[in-house]
Parts: sequence; structure tokens; C-alpha cells
Amino acid sequence: MPETGQFVPGLEGVVAVQTKLSHVDGQKGKLIIGGYSIEELAGKVSFEEAADLLWMGALPAAEDAEALRKELAALRTIRPETLELIKIARHSPPIDALRMACSTLSLDLSKPNDISPAADLAVAKRLTARFPTVVAAHARLRQGHEPIPPRADLGMAANFLYMVFGEVPHPAVAKALDTYWTTVIDHGMNASTFAARVIASTRSDMVSAVTGAVGALKGPLHGGAPGPVLDMLVDIQSADRAEAWLKNELAEGRRIMGFGHRVYKVRDPRAEVLAQTAEVLAGADLRNRKLYDLARSVEKTALHVLDEHKPGRNLKTNVEFYTALVLQSAGLVPDQFVAMFACGRVAGWCAHVMEQHSQDRLIRPQSQYLGPQGLSISR
Ligand code: COA
Repeated sequence: MPETGQFVPGLEGVVAVQTKLSHVDGQKGKLIIGGYSIEELAGKVSFEEAADLLWMGALPAAEDAEALRKELAALRTIRPETLELIKIARHSPPIDALRMACSTLSLDLSKPNDISPAADLAVAKRLTARFPTVVAAHARLRQGHEPIPPRADLGMAANFLYMVFGEVPHPAVAKALDTYWTTVIDHGMNASTFAARVIASTRSDMVSAVTGAVGALKGPLHGGAPGPVLDMLVDIQSADRAEAWLKNELAEGRRIMGFGHRVYKVRDPRAEVLAQTAEVLAGADLRNRKLYDLARSVEKTALHVLDEHKPGRNLKTNVEFYTALVLQSAGLVPDQFVAMFACGRVAGWCAHVMEQHSQDRLIRPQSQYLGPQGLSISR
């Protein structure tokens, strides 16, 4: 435990909040979400149910799950003002358009500054229901097509793919996306969640907190890695080129995307969940069996090359490596990946905002001053 006044670069190891939402055990490679291991949860409950687990503290009973799905489905439509903004931002990266659009999602709240538990829960449902609508509308508009209105009879993942591609997806693809969103729904005190909690700790509203979190997520050290992972695989082309390619990256002082983690010192458990999801998609021969095989091989080589490059640092595969494959198999392109991440993580951010509002403690660390002192004005 650091002493008061001690400088801890990057807050590494600092316990800043207490939470009942999720726990990351970086030594054992375990992730617990609301009491369940990620392997137990992802793919076994729908994303909507996993979101409810975080918001309500328990999974919905089987007979309530359909009502929950319908309730969220009824909230998917976005306002014309939001759509107008997405049109203006259609040539911006999807994550930037999402950040801008996110701010407008408070427009139809009668009391946007109400941070009571009931108001927070209502906003959490709206944001989670509408993020995919925003990302899908942006995907259509930037290709010069009209957005496709949401369909209330589809689950969240199937509806998203329908809004992007105009046809109901193969169930295996919808299932893969649903599993992906559950896999990334929450993850301890990651940078974007911390950003959301800092904003919420000032008693600011959920839309403001989530807008800030989107900004934190987009950086390449956080959610922005899977796009470059796919670029890397495409550039490597074949397994026999991997070692030289990776060594050259490191020699040029660049990091290998999809490897290393602030907390995990063993393989990120989400990597295995998503590797299996990607394998199912590849096995069904829906897309890119070759890319999957290449990824498996590049992963092995990268682990070996990174071990040689930074012995003892334990730079292992993280969630972003196989995220790239799953999202690519769903027909999405690299610059959309971080916005897809946000569509899953938004449910976790909202849960943390609710928890922070209920704890009601301002987050306000200190800084160590390194500048000059005692200067005087000589004018
Ligand atoms: N490739 C090459 N070197 C890496 C690396 C990677 N992916 N990840 C870490 N390193 C190196 C760092 O340069 C550092 O070297 P140094 O001690 O000589 O400065 C050392 O390993 C330790 O890294 P550090 O930056 O202290 O780890 P961190 O906990 O701050 O960083 C990440 C964690 C995720 C930011 C980092 O591993 C990274 O940049 N990974 C690639 C991006 C990525 O996949 N992000 C998604 C995260 S889920």
C-alpha cells in the first residue's frame, strides 16, 4: 500500500475504489464478473442479461430475460438530432462519431442531472441500447447509405449486424458478437472505467461520465489496439514471415499490439474465450479460416519474440488479439473495432457510474510539484 504523498507512476497497484462489479486476478489470469468467471458467463447468457447482472447485482430469472430483451429493444431508436450529428461526423473515425453522439443522448432526458439510482438505471438502459444504433448509423452514412432503423424482434447483436448490413445475420455470427460484448463488458479499474468514475464522483451525470469514458477508451494503449492487430496480421501475410516482421517492429521501438497488460502477467482469460469464438466462426467456414490459422501461429511466435525482447516481463496475449479476428469475421473493419468495444463496455461503465454515485466520494488524488518556486514578477 503506498504511503500518503508517495508518487506512484500510472497509479500502478493503487486501489482507488471498492467494487462489487468485477475482479481481475492478474497473476492467476482470472476475471470475475458479478460473481461468475468470464468462461462461465460469455456465450452462456446474452449480453443483455450480463448487463442486467452488473446493473442489478444478479442475473435476471429465465422468465424475466425476454422482458429485459424487449425493454432494451424498445429503447434503440436515436433522435433526429443525434442522427444529424452522426451525418456531420460521417467522415470522422467511428469512435469519434460515437463520442460526439453520446453527448446528445441526454437530449431526451427530462431531468438530465438526476443521478438517483432509478434515473441512473434508466439512462444505463438507454445508452446501452443506443450505442449500437449510433455505430451502425455511422457505418451506413459513411458509405453513402441511409441508416437502417432498428428491429425490435432481434437480440442486440443480431440487430446491430442487421442495421449495418441490411440483412439478418447468420446466428453463429450474431452469437460471436454477443459473446464478444459480454467478454468485454467490465474489467476492474481499467482506464476508461476509472475516467467514468472520476467524472461520476463529482456528482456529474451518467451521460457526461460515459462520454469521458469513450474518450479514454479510444487510445491505442487501451481499446484502440485490435485495429492495428488486424493490420499486423494482414501485413505479416504468412507464418514464416512472422518472426522477422515482429523483430523488426521491436527494433524500430514499436510495441506489438495485442500483447502485454498492466494487470495480467499470464494470458488474459478473455483471449482464450475469444480465440474459441474466432475458431467457431472459422470452423463454420463463415470467413477466414486462413486468417485464424495465421493468428494462432503469429501468437506463438510473438510470445517467444517478446520473451526474448523483455525477459521476465511476462508480456502475454491480451483480449485485443482475438478481438480483431472475431470482429473481422463479423464483417467489420479495423477502424470500427474500438467503437464495437465501447458498445460492450458501455454497460460496465454505467454500472460503475451507479456504484460511484451510491458511494458518493469525490476522487481527487494529489500531484507532486516539480516546477519552480518563489518566482517574482519583475515588470
Ligand atoms: N510490445 C513490446 N514491448 C512491450 C509491449 C508490447 N506489446 N508491452 C509492454 N512492452 C514493454 C514496454 O515497452 C516496457 O519496456 P521498458 O521497461 O523497457 O520501458 C515493458 O515491456 C513493460 O511495459 P509497461 O509499459 O510498463 O507495461 P504497462 O503495464 O504500462 O503497459 C500495455 C501495458 C497494455 C499498455 C502495454 O503492454 C502495451 O502497450 N501493449 C500493446 C497495446 C495493447 O495491446 N493494448 C491493449 C491492452 S488490453
